[in-house]
Amino acid sequence: MTTRLIHISDVHFGVEDRSALALLERAIADNPPDAVVCTGDLTQRAKHSEYADAAQWFASLGVPVVLDPGNHDMPYYNLWERFTDPYRRYRALKAKVGGELASDDVVLVPLKTTVRIQARFPWSDGVVMDDALSETLAQLAALKGDPRTIIVTAHHPLLGPEGAAKNPTIRGEDAFAAIAAAGAHAVISGHVHVPFDEVREHGGHAMRMIGVGTLSTRLRHGAPPSFREITCEKGGQITTRLREVTAAI
Ligand SMILES: [Fe+2]
Repeated sequence: MTTRLIHISDVHFGVEDRSALALLERAIADNPPDAVVCTGDLTQRAKHSEYADAAQWFASLGVPVVLDPGNHDMPYYNLWERFTDPYRRYRALKAKVGGELASDDVVLVPLKTTVRIQARFPWSDGVVMDDALSETLAQLAALKGDPRTIIVTAHHPLLGPEGAAKNPTIRGEDAFAAIAAAGAHAVISGHVHVPFDEVREHGGHAMRMIGVGTLSTRLRHGAPPSFREITCEKGGQITTRLREVTAAI
């Protein structure tokens, strides 16, 4: 048996790419996946109108939707709300359209990498707080001996690009090594708007890191909008197919 996921990220409702979304909608309708997994940045500025558009679009897909928050999903203009209850709007969306993946082949475990404020600019980069990592590691410990493929979902990549001097995700290296040691087969993420799929190593532990591009108009480093099909069998068997949204498609 296999389970097929479609991984998307950084849709950024408010500046979403409607033609990219239309192509994805067709791909889903033609061959419905077991779930669409979105690793955050659902909105551009966390406005109520953007969340309403996101809710309508996710509900229209007709397949289970698994969501994570991104740094853009906390209020940007309403700082009071950002500090006191940053995930209120996100939680309301998740309650409306979010679901869980039920699969004999793969299990998804979230890792929170977003913070409402941090002691550096920009606030957009990732931080792995101790309590967030502990929560993820506890879920991984509970899966010990589970034959399914284990995929951790996080908005920010845990390691920087291969060869880069600096990792923008604070404590990402430690999180990577701990999660790999705890038995995760892969971590999937967004945020950088550039796709990648590579086996990385840190602290003596290797793990697959899979990232997908954006479905918004906020293109980075020449990477077109994209989504990725991820097909899983038990035991860490993962195959992926990147679908770039270019004029040729
Ligand atoms: Fe982001």
